[in-house]
Amino acid sequence: MIQTLNSIASLSGSVTLPGDKSISHRYAMLAAIAEGTSVLRHFASSRDCHSTLSCLRSLGVDMQESGETVTIRGCGLRGLQAPNRILDAGNSGTTIRLLSGILAGHPFESSITGDSSLSNRPMGRIMQPLRQMGAAIESREGDLPPLKIRGGSLREIRYSLPVASAQVKSCVLLAGLYGKDTTAVEEIIPTRDHTEIALKQFGGTIRISGNWIEIDPEPKLQAQQLAVPGDLSGAAFFLVAAALIPNSELELPAVGLNGRRRELLHYLIRAGVDLTIENEISFADESRGDLHVRFSPELFKRKLPAIEGAEAASLIDEIPVLSVLGSQAGGGLEISDARELRVKESDRISALATNLRAMGVDAVEKPDGLIIPGGRRLRGADIITQGDHRIAMAFAVAALMAQGETRIHDAECADVSFPGFWDALRKIILPA
Ligand code: S3P
Repeated sequence: MIQTLNSIASLSGSVTLPGDKSISHRYAMLAAIAEGTSVLRHFASSRDCHSTLSCLRSLGVDMQESGETVTIRGCGLRGLQAPNRILDAGNSGTTIRLLSGILAGHPFESSITGDSSLSNRPMGRIMQPLRQMGAAIESREGDLPPLKIRGGSLREIRYSLPVASAQVKSCVLLAGLYGKDTTAVEEIIPTRDHTEIALKQFGGTIRISGNWIEIDPEPKLQAQQLAVPGDLSGAAFFLVAAALIPNSELELPAVGLNGRRRELLHYLIRAGVDLTIENEISFADESRGDLHVRFSPELFKRKLPAIEGAEAASLIDEIPVLSVLGSQAGGGLEISDARELRVKESDRISALATNLRAMGVDAVEKPDGLIIPGGRRLRGADIITQGDHRIAMAFAVAALMAQGETRIHDAECADVSFPGFWDALRKIILPA
C-alpha cells in the first residue's frame, strides 16, 4: 500500500498511543510462564506483539483477547509444550531473542523463524550465551534464523554484554530463570530495563549491583493484573511533527515514561522543543504521564545536540525521526556510535541516507551514523521503506512539511509497531 501525503497547515488534537511494544512482549512472556491467570490491559496492538502471542499459543498457552485486553493462563515456569509447527516471530527481533531465552530452559526441540527481514538479522549475540549455559542451538548460515533450540536445565553464567542490547540482556536474564544458581549480566551501556522491572513485578528475584544484574533461578512467578502504558517510541513521530510544523499543538495522554526510555524527552527539550509532562504516575514500577507539545521555532536556530555514546543506545529506535528533525534544525545533526542501526528491521543508516537524499537533504553515511545538514527545504519524493515501520513513519513526518507530494511505499509496515498510525495522523491534520 502506498500512502500519499502533502504539506499541511498544522497539527492539532490528541493522539492515543498503542500499548508499549517492549513492555507488552515481556508481560505476555512472563504471564505465560507464571502460575495463575494474568490480565493485561492496553496490550500493544502492534503486529510484533501479536507474533509473540501466536508463538505462545503454539507453545500450548491458553489466552483470550478482547479488544486491547489479553488474558493469559500461565503454564508455570517449565510448563510450555513442544510446538507442532515452526514458531513464527514475524518481523519481531524481540520475540525471537527473548523467547529463545525461555525455550532454552525447556527440554524439547523447537524451531523459530521470521519474515525476510528477521531472517537476515544476527542471532549469534544470543546463541553464544545460551550455548554457554548449555542449550543446543543451530542456525542457518552462521547465525541467521531459523533457530533450532533444544534446551533443558541450564548452567548459570556471568556474562558481559558485547553489544548494548536490551534484547540480548533480556534473553540471558530469562534463561537465568532456568539456571542452577544465580546468573549475572553486565551492561556497560544502560539499555531499557523493562525485563528487570517486569521480572520483579511477577515475583522474580533480581539484584542490581553497579553494572551487574543478577537473577535467581527457579522463582514461582505469579500472575498479575497490569495495564501497559502508551508507546513512547510511537509518540516520538508526533512530538517531532508538532515541534516542526507552525501553529501545531498536540496532547498525548498516558505515555510510558520509563527512566531508560525518556532520554528522548530530555533530548527534545535540550534541542529546543516546547514539551511538557503532566500527571505523571507510576504503575507496576513503570511510570506514565501526559505529554503536551507545541510548535517550537527555537529549533530552527540551533544545531541539534550530537547523538553519540550511551545516548545513541538510549535513542536507538527514535533516530529515524530525529534524523528528520535534524534536517530541519538550523545547524543539522551528527549521529555516531549507532552501528546497531545497520542490523535493525532494515539497515537504517542506509535507508535514512537514501530517503533523506531523495527529499533533497545531502545526508552523509558514516559506518556508525550519519551527518545531516540542517535547514533544508524538503521536497516530496518516493520513499522506499524496505518494509521498515520506523522508516515509513519518520518519512511520513517529513512529508508533512515537504514541497510537493510524497509517496510512502509499503506503508502498511507501520502496523508492526503502530496499527492505526495513518488514521491517527490524518485525524489531527489541518490541511494547508
Ligand atoms: C528492544 C530493544 C532494542 C530496540 C527494539 C526493542 C526491546 O533492540 O531497538 O526495538 O524490546 O528489548 P536491541 O536490543 O537489538 O538494541
